[in-house]
Amino acid sequence: MSLVEKLMYEVEPAVRVSGGKVTVVGTGQVGMACAFSILTQNIASELALVDVVADKLKGEMMDLQHGLTFLKNVKVSADTDYSVTAGSKICIVTAGARQREGESRLSLVQRNTDIFKGIIPKLVEHSPDTILLIVSNPVDILTYVAWKISGLPKNRVIGSGTNLDSSRFRFLMSQRLNVAPSSCHGWIIGEHGDSSVPVWSGVNIAGVRLRDLDSSIGTSEDPEQWTQLHKQVVESAYEIIRLKGYTSWAIGLSVAALAQAILKNTRSCYAVSTLVQGMQGIDKDVFLSAPCVLGENGVTHVIQQTLSEAEKAQLQKSANTLYEVQQGLTY
Ligand code: NAD
Ligand code: LAC
Repeated sequence: MSLVEKLMYEVEPAVRVSGGKVTVVGTGQVGMACAFSILTQNIASELALVDVVADKLKGEMMDLQHGLTFLKNVKVSADTDYSVTAGSKICIVTAGARQREGESRLSLVQRNTDIFKGIIPKLVEHSPDTILLIVSNPVDILTYVAWKISGLPKNRVIGSGTNLDSSRFRFLMSQRLNVAPSSCHGWIIGEHGDSSVPVWSGVNIAGVRLRDLDSSIGTSEDPEQWTQLHKQVVESAYEIIRLKGYTSWAIGLSVAALAQAILKNTRSCYAVSTLVQGMQGIDKDVFLSAPCVLGENGVTHVIQQTLSEAEKAQLQKSANTLYEVQQGLTY
């Protein structure tokens, strides 16, 4: 009789997979920031990590496991074999190349598409009911690629999108107004990064729209130059990459918020990348960010924002650019 058998009577074998399992593929700077945010906020009941670099992967797993005493009861596992991901409710994909200093997100596209060809089918094989949450860049195109490769319905393939850009915007707003970021409301939509679109008409504090106080807000005529905030958002990643080599903490927190909305079926609204064909005059099958309602089956609704003609035109331009890039991809 083993020690375990001496210690405990088995009434029924323990359930192997719990309902709140999350997988993170890619245990680099972004993957580990996502993993750490999810663990410390008690969002998942189980966390599986996958990477191709076995030693680094094992080291990260052990380091997290040694802190589990201080968390609620979470299981952490890791393997280079995708069987470790079986039964995941959400698979977060952060694997792949990142930008070097001054490099654009779009330049990573074929390299990371090739990596996705190896990852996505294995995730779906082991978790056919999963929701894919794509973070690797260029995130909008890679979300499209993941949708195509996976064969999953569009509500279950989501890109982290401009949730991060919107958070950066709200932080910068809070700095100008000395009001908490969570009380500063504004949405950045469209492509994550260079051609993102700030929806100035909706920017508000406590329902008071800044545009109603000054109609020039968000235009070049504005003497206070609020448009600088959006310029800073677009430049943020380039600046952080120049300063520390990568971005990690804010995207980790942003992804944890999305995972929480899905796992806990909160029906919260976030700017995430979704299939926008047929919305805001976009006729191409591309993924771009719009405010989406998230629940346990992924994106259930997309909020139809009242956009200006200029904002719609910008979205359509981004859609056309992404579509052109998609046409040149092999996957
Ligand atoms: P990193 O180099 O630190 O980590 C990448 C990890 O992917 C490495 O551990 C590597 O071993 C792993 N990897 C590579 N090929 C793999 C494969 N086939 N299977 C499994 N794992 C594999 O890079 P990072 O800083 O963590 O960035 C990761 C990605 O996230 C980049 O594409 C980056 O541009 C993107 N990113 C996106 C956002 C966003 O808002 N969407 C924000 C920050 C970074
Ligand atoms: C970001 C990444 C690089 O932090 O897309 O915006």
